[in-house]
Amino acid sequence: MSGAPYLASDDSALLRRALERYSGERCLEIGAGNGGNLVDLSGRFRLVVGTDLVKPSMDDWKGEANFVLADLASSTRGSAFDLVAFNPPYVAAGPVGDAAVEGGPGLEVPKAFLEEALRVVRKDGVVVFLLSDAAKPDEFERICARHGFGLQRIGSQRLFFEELSVYEAVKAQSSR
Ligand SMILES: C[S@@+](CC[C@H](N)C(=O)[O-])C[C@H]1O[C@@H](n2cnc3c(N)ncnc32)[C@H](O)[C@@H]1O
Repeated sequence: MSGAPYLASDDSALLRRALERYSGERCLEIGAGNGGNLVDLSGRFRLVVGTDLVKPSMDDWKGEANFVLADLASSTRGSAFDLVAFNPPYVAAGPVGDAAVEGGPGLEVPKAFLEEALRVVRKDGVVVFLLSDAAKPDEFERICARHGFGLQRIGSQRLFFEELSVYEAVKAQSSR
């Protein structure tokens, strides 16, 4: 890992646009990078928390959101969040080198993000996350199903050599 925070890019913007439809009390972004999504979410959620292995460097942080240096959501107990979002290291490469972008040969890192998100989201909450077309959606769907959640794709964008998609996981058979 470089030690420098991940600077927002096209993938960050795709997730941020998808998150515009959500509002509520509490939200968490796992792997918040430089914190741009947190500032945006703080306009629509009362409590906004971000975690990352790397400290953000944003000058305009202004205390609008809370940031915790933590592995995944290890700083959180229980299922407290209405929304949990993440844009994980989604490149299928390994062994894991650059923790900001490389997700392991079998995308073990995005899968660990999803397990953590499903652990800390409220049972009537929503998990929103981004994956590339290197991911097999059915593998992520199975993880969701084990937690009683269903998965659907809610957005996508082709960027150079890959297609990025945003997925939403909500309680299975929810009418939401
Ligand atoms: C692709 S970047 C996305 C950053 C930001 N969410 C965005 O959309 O711009 C992935 C982020 O996950 C962080 N990360 C990787 N492994 C992590 C872990 N185990 N716990 C917390 N954050 C992690 C990286 O440091 C990086 O900031």
